[in-house]
Amino acid sequence: MAKEIVKPATGKLGIMVVGLGAVSTTFMTGVMMARKGLAKPVGSMTQYDKIRIGKGENKKYLHYNEIVSMPSLDDLVFAAWDVFPANAYESAINAEVLKEKDIEPVKDELLKIKPLKAAFDKNYAKRLDGDNVKQCKDRWDMTEQVREDIRNFKKETGVDRVVVLWAASTEIYVEPDMKYHGTIAALEQAMKDNVVDKIAPSMCYAYAALMEDCPFIMGAPNTTVDIPAMWELSEKTQVPIAGKDFKTGQTLVKSGFAPIIGTRMLGLNGWFSTNILGNRDGLVLDEPANFRTKEVSKLSTLESILVADDQPDLYSEYYHKVRINYYPPRNDNKEGWDNIDIFGWMGYPMQIKINFLCRDSILAAPLCLDLCLLMDLAHRAGRYGTQRFLSFFLKSPMHDYTQDEIPVNHLFQQYVMLKNAIREMGGYEADEEID
Ligand SMILES: NC(=O)c1ccc[n+]([C@@H]2O[C@H](COP(=O)([O-])OP(=O)(O)OC[C@H]3O[C@@H](n4cnc5c(N)ncnc54)[C@H](O)[C@@H]3O)[C@@H](O)[C@H]2O)c1
Repeated sequence: MAKEIVKPATGKLGIMVVGLGAVSTTFMTGVMMARKGLAKPVGSMTQYDKIRIGKGENKKYLHYNEIVSMPSLDDLVFAAWDVFPANAYESAINAEVLKEKDIEPVKDELLKIKPLKAAFDKNYAKRLDGDNVKQCKDRWDMTEQVREDIRNFKKETGVDRVVVLWAASTEIYVEPDMKYHGTIAALEQAMKDNVVDKIAPSMCYAYAALMEDCPFIMGAPNTTVDIPAMWELSEKTQVPIAGKDFKTGQTLVKSGFAPIIGTRMLGLNGWFSTNILGNRDGLVLDEPANFRTKEVSKLSTLESILVADDQPDLYSEYYHKVRINYYPPRNDNKEGWDNIDIFGWMGYPMQIKINFLCRDSILAAPLCLDLCLLMDLAHRAGRYGTQRFLSFFLKSPMHDYTQDEIPVNHLFQQYVMLKNAIREMGGYEADEEID
């Protein structure tokens, strides 16, 4: 196989984040604290993980930046859009994820991140009521305004490259509709015709990013770039896309735990997952139309790991249910319960209970960092289209459903895909198989 040529990560990398809420301010604050040596970027694969290169006596275990050229944390420059005018410092304080002692040392840097006006439509998140919003004639104009923001950011900061990351609220569910989402031409026409119920604001950000040569990552479960029109645009512009939905708490556990059941040939009768969550994300998800988007994303995890067609005795007709309940006292400290009804020898039932007392944004922040750095890498490697090697970080990995392509949800298979992609971009052979 020809060696991939990866352009070196010279200069600064701009990270423009849609949404300046709990996740994004925790991400930015952590990066700023880490570069001052005041915190550790725990949970980040790009900062900690080592991959084996070579075999036998030639094998070495190297960090990602020893295999491929990667920017350092010092090279990152942030900007954001939000519906509310609070700067990153105020927003980090309001989010109550981090203690003040972990924010104050980088207060001056955070104060400088003032959100650009959002491309927003209240119909997509009814519970949000901010006024830092662009006035747009139609969706096409919305796209043009976001493009201008990206160009201005590049000019003002002198960054070399920009990645756009969606860490904004989950929008209401937009069912992919080929009449509007099937081709670039149809999508552009729908933007110009202002078909507001088919063109979510997030699609305007994504379209703008790709047109401005910026990789786009969808961190919420929105169907934004999970439509053929965006796949086509990604190919045409040769800019990579990734999504969707950060795989943080319960789904991370699920995609790591389900393989235990599947590998040991145990049966499954049902898997009930519920959560309590009290942050603004929880508030938005309390709206049924917004929860629907999340539900579709969360439900998809098990189907490709415990497959009824492969093992009809073990996995036909299991009952899978996911719930999120808004419960303000817990704020960002989500509690997730999983009740798993399995069965063993001769069909005898057993139960497994998992209780994960997690911190949502603490788990999401390292994913933001890794996804941004790895999407920049993919772009420098000349990769475009859906970056399936990033499935490891995502709850509902994008795949070409028009060709019946199956998503990979199994955590350890996803890890192999990640390692092989880094190896290939580093000029080594992909040397682990996914069976
Ligand atoms: N934290 C996790 O574990 C996790 C996991 C998976 C996905 N997510 C997703 O990440 C996203 C962010 O989560 P959070 O806890 O930071 O939420 P948050 O509510 O604290 O922040 C989201 C911000 O996005 C802003 N926003 C909404 N629509 C916008 C638009 N069109 N343009 C610009 N800004 C907009 C809101 O005003 C808000 O400040 C959510 O969609 C959530 O579902 C989070």
